[in-house]
Amino acid sequence: MQYSDRILNTPSSFIRNILKVTDASDVISFAGGLPNPISFPLDAIQTSIDRAMKEHGAKLFQYSSTQGYLPLRQYIADKYNRKHGLDISPDDILLTTGSQQALELLAKVLVNKGDGIIIEKPGYLGAIQAFTLSEPTFYPVTLEEDGINLEELEKALQQPNVKMIYTVPNFQNPTGLTYSLEKRKQVYELVSRHDVVLIEDDPYGELRFEGEDLPYIGAGKLENSVLLGSFSKTVTPGMRLGFVITKNKELLTHIETAKQATDLHTNIFAQYVIYDYLANNDFDKHVEKIIDLYKTQSDAMLQAMEKYFPAHVSYTKPQGGMFIWATLNNGQSALDVFQKAMDKNVAFVPGDPFYTDPKGVSTMRLNYTNSTPEMIEEGIKRLASIF
Ligand SMILES: Cc1ncc(COP(=O)(O)O)c(C=O)c1O
Repeated sequence: MQYSDRILNTPSSFIRNILKVTDASDVISFAGGLPNPISFPLDAIQTSIDRAMKEHGAKLFQYSSTQGYLPLRQYIADKYNRKHGLDISPDDILLTTGSQQALELLAKVLVNKGDGIIIEKPGYLGAIQAFTLSEPTFYPVTLEEDGINLEELEKALQQPNVKMIYTVPNFQNPTGLTYSLEKRKQVYELVSRHDVVLIEDDPYGELRFEGEDLPYIGAGKLENSVLLGSFSKTVTPGMRLGFVITKNKELLTHIETAKQATDLHTNIFAQYVIYDYLANNDFDKHVEKIIDLYKTQSDAMLQAMEKYFPAHVSYTKPQGGMFIWATLNNGQSALDVFQKAMDKNVAFVPGDPFYTDPKGVSTMRLNYTNSTPEMIEEGIKRLASIF
């Protein structure tokens, strides 16, 4: 059988593959990127399922509009206007099957084979995978402590046919890093001089346990701004509910057409249920609980790293989200360490899949949201013994 170049050039998800190994019950796994299941509001969702079915009956099971359930889009518009000072209406929003789908749709709509996509280095591997299906040329730009490197960004913007810049401004996956206010302003200045779409993918922004919320880079200001959101990290990932926000009507119409071709619409049962949940519960209080939980876990990991890691291992200190990124400054390959770590029943994700041009990197992603503080200390101790 002859397959398309598109699929042959797209890597299967490294993480999904290694999770098969790391999911064994006796492994302390920092490899996943899953929200902690104790954060899912199961009882409230059960109530919402019952209520939504009673109130709306067959509508939960019928075909529905591509753009998504209006009350939910209204809820999102109100919230982003209130919290982030945006000026959006439900018409500026399209509900997607997770924000992951939005990434694939954006590439489909904007990128011809060979066109440029600027992406953080390291970057979210699900985005690398989704974009690769459109056969782009990637221009990776180094992500530093305070955001993307400006000189590299300026150079990348000079490349031919650059269509979009993909950023995760808050508690980035995989590094846990957050763009500073200053860097946000500088990126805005630079990008506003170019005809390019700026994507801000923000599934973690609400999970801040330190510092103050910062304004988006381009959302609400830049004509070609796209902001992505998701209910995966705050309510449930299994419902697969995300959204695109853009005031660029033409772009949104094209995304809608691409979505029609892909799946007609996002699961409407999930849209009714999540809307009912949001409308009838104290969501902020729920998110506070997740934040408390993740802060405890992040603190436990950072304290263990401080205690056990040798001086040549540096690591980020996230202000929110789910990840810490460690760098082995002696050049040791993270893949080698991964094999040794598995012998000691501890897992993490070697940095390689987060680069568009990996070469035996010395970086690694550690997720803290799925282990108790005791397991975290034990796992970090075992890792330190390998370093
Ligand atoms: C930065 C980033 N974007 C998008 C996604 C996909 O999330 P969703 O469940 O909304 O598709 C993830 C999931 O881990 C992510 O880390």
